[in-house]
Amino acid sequence: MSDGATARGSATEREEARKTAEGLEHLSGFGNEHSSEAVPGALPVGRNSPQRAPLGLYAEQLSGSAFTEPRAENRRSWLYRIRPSAAHPSFTRTGNGALRSAPFTQTVPDPNRLRWNPLPDPDEGTDFLAGLWTLGGNGDVAQRSGMAVHLYHATASMRRVFSDADGELLIVPERGGLLLRTEFGMLHVEPGHVALIPRGVRFRVELLDETARGYVCENYGAAFRLPDLGPIGANGLANARDFRAPVAAYEDVEGPVEVVNKFCGNLWAATYDHSPLDVVAWHGNHVPYAYDLGRFNVMGTISYDHPDPSIFTVLTSPSDTPGLAGVDFVVFAPRWLVGEDTFRPPYFHRNVMSEYMGLIEGAYDAKAAGKGGFVPGGGSLHNMMSAHGPDRETFDRASAAELRPQKIDDGLAFMFETRWPVSLTPQAARAEHLQQGYDDVWRGLERHFRPLH
Ligand SMILES: [Fe+2]
Repeated sequence: MSDGATARGSATEREEARKTAEGLEHLSGFGNEHSSEAVPGALPVGRNSPQRAPLGLYAEQLSGSAFTEPRAENRRSWLYRIRPSAAHPSFTRTGNGALRSAPFTQTVPDPNRLRWNPLPDPDEGTDFLAGLWTLGGNGDVAQRSGMAVHLYHATASMRRVFSDADGELLIVPERGGLLLRTEFGMLHVEPGHVALIPRGVRFRVELLDETARGYVCENYGAAFRLPDLGPIGANGLANARDFRAPVAAYEDVEGPVEVVNKFCGNLWAATYDHSPLDVVAWHGNHVPYAYDLGRFNVMGTISYDHPDPSIFTVLTSPSDTPGLAGVDFVVFAPRWLVGEDTFRPPYFHRNVMSEYMGLIEGAYDAKAAGKGGFVPGGGSLHNMMSAHGPDRETFDRASAAELRPQKIDDGLAFMFETRWPVSLTPQAARAEHLQQGYDDVWRGLERHFRPLH
């Protein structure tokens, strides 16, 4: 799907995008009712749909939840735009590239522990959408349940505009900054930040560096939210005030713009006669947002034992069963380890949940780093009930370590943890960058059992 004619990548354009990105203002908070207007007076006062919206704009509601869902679940925004979204020609099917959707039925679900190197380099002129490559997932887009794991590797900014009717997109950059131009305004993210584009929101990804690489969790299920804190109290983990939402910014562009819509697993394209990023003012709670993972308030033991990694949950997509997430986004951020008489790295375990892990930078404290290991841009999959944990090298080191207070500050890893097994796409199951011999990292864990001292 790479198409040089629809991609932009010049150094000048990147410099312009970076200047724009670094000058952005934002709104703060998570899940609150924001409002913003790019032109004073564009936002109606006291009603959502006046007989004539201000400044000759069209009023339009974007619903992220059913109208009648409980107030705490209800997500919608009102957009005041130059043209209503309905003013578009027919969509026709276009190529899906390497993007795939649930149900994932083309491979036999694999109980083996698997690990991949980073994606190979893409062709010149590959934009974010063309650079999306699906590893696998679960559920069914038509049932609005489950998730997909994608990776992206782009070398050019998008000229076209994309939206995903199948789910929200949690973008986890690993290399290269991004300027996300959305209907709601712009967001700037760098590696170490995440961005979320809600279901159905139109956006374009512009590159701030020569290449951009990272991960995407496409969440078909309930919208991500902050986890309950329970006995932790009113503060901690990802604090709501650290989330950034865009301020209104619009494009008043006449002329052909390609708009691509992902619908029930396929890409559909239409050529508009204007930019659909033409929202001059908006208010609501169905909004894109960004978050700097460096702001995560890491909780951990100050006595003994490694807490369950759920303590590192940034965002969760709940299911109908309390405490059982469709998918959690979990981050392993810099932190102090002080546990006494404790094996400090993550413990050996088998988990009913399925875990896809990625690495944004540095190393992860349960796996040796370096070539052929768990490297930034790569990923591992530990499916339902697969046995995993520290590799041999890490076990030996951590079992013998002197237990002084220790700062873990050389890596940023994350996990998409989901209630259903992750089935692979054929391209992931047969990828050249799928590592061979991942099982070997647990080979040679010696027998130490001595029944008699
Ligand atoms: Fe695990």
